[in-house]
Amino acid sequence: MNFPQVNGHRLLRRIQELGQIGCLPGGGGTRLALTDEDKQGRDLIVGWFAEAGASVYVDKIGNIYGVLGGSVDTPPIMTGSHIDTVSRAGFLDGCYGVIAGVELLQAIGESGLTPDKPIAVTVFSNEEGVRFSPDLLGSRVIAKDIALDEALAVETRDGKSFQSELQRIGYAGEIEPWKFIPESFLELHIEQGPVLEATETQVGVVEALQGHSWWQVEIVGCANHAGTTPMHLRKDAGVAAMQLACRLQEYSALDHLPNVTTVGTFALEPNAVNVVPGKAKFTIDFRDSDDGQLRKADALLQSEVMKLQEQGFEVKLQTLSKAMSVKFDEGLCSLLQGVTESIGASNRRIVSGASHDAQMISRACPSAMLFVQSSKGISHNPKENTPDDDLVLGAQILANAMWTLATSKS
Ligand code: GLV
Ligand code: MN
Ligand code: MN
Repeated sequence: MNFPQVNGHRLLRRIQELGQIGCLPGGGGTRLALTDEDKQGRDLIVGWFAEAGASVYVDKIGNIYGVLGGSVDTPPIMTGSHIDTVSRAGFLDGCYGVIAGVELLQAIGESGLTPDKPIAVTVFSNEEGVRFSPDLLGSRVIAKDIALDEALAVETRDGKSFQSELQRIGYAGEIEPWKFIPESFLELHIEQGPVLEATETQVGVVEALQGHSWWQVEIVGCANHAGTTPMHLRKDAGVAAMQLACRLQEYSALDHLPNVTTVGTFALEPNAVNVVPGKAKFTIDFRDSDDGQLRKADALLQSEVMKLQEQGFEVKLQTLSKAMSVKFDEGLCSLLQGVTESIGASNRRIVSGASHDAQMISRACPSAMLFVQSSKGISHNPKENTPDDDLVLGAQILANAMWTLATSKS
């Protein structure tokens, strides 16, 4: 079979070019969902879609689709990922999968080949969930995990709605988010963990993905003078929050309840050196491949909160995001493994610790993911990196697998 051949130089140049948008002095970059930087990144991708000869569509939740070949009424073979980032991020998370998809479209155009089925590349809105919760918002709406109206009404901490921010940046599209439910979906991504590098394996065929449960906890005690308030008479919201955060970390570290727990944000009020904190607000990120373990962790958090309430603290617990664990489609995993082996690249089956849009899209159609190495297993960090050869290899495997699907009879 003739496959479209990716242009490695163009792929790597485009990854660098997108990485320039939102880059920060001191390293890394920030391109939070629906900010001006996100708009610039989106505009760049739309320009590349046009250069590749793809038709461009934007749906009502701001997902962008570049579509090539076939009839728009035929379910496409889809790939895609996200270009929004966490704060001070690396340059590969999400962006790699999107740009590899753009490269596939351009390589098809240059090869003179025509797919039997449409091929779509999607840029999903707000994968990271840093500026708007829940995360995976664009793919969640496609999978009907959240209603479109509810998703559009989600607000930033300073009260800006998703809808108004989409309109502001010019990406409030017209089409329904479920218009392009694909026949199959593949997502290419960096591993964001240490397994592939440590085992000297080039490619990971992702067969499962951890679920997550995100919470925001707000504890209200009583702000008071740091010098005059005896220790036994304090209602210190900061200490209560720190102790709870540490207890939850210990449950994970000692009993894997759940597999991993992260307290990624933590804020005290009034946040002054000489005031006993009156309020503490922090977030919890529970992750596990076993949804039962996640539910147990949720119950544990709720019982810890009740203990604090019995001690006289006011506690507000808010769910920020939930996503169930996923087992990907075995047929697509075998296809990815077969394509990888036919190219002569080493591979292993792997479970993703991170969340991805494929987690949601897998509810709508057969889906799977492919990982390339993350140097030193580092991600969500400006030091995120992958050897160039591996980036090009992953894009070619994706191209071959997508092409096989787009030219198969079924
Ligand atoms: C996304 O990167 C996540 O796993 O939180
Ligand atoms: Mn990602
Ligand atoms: Mn990420």
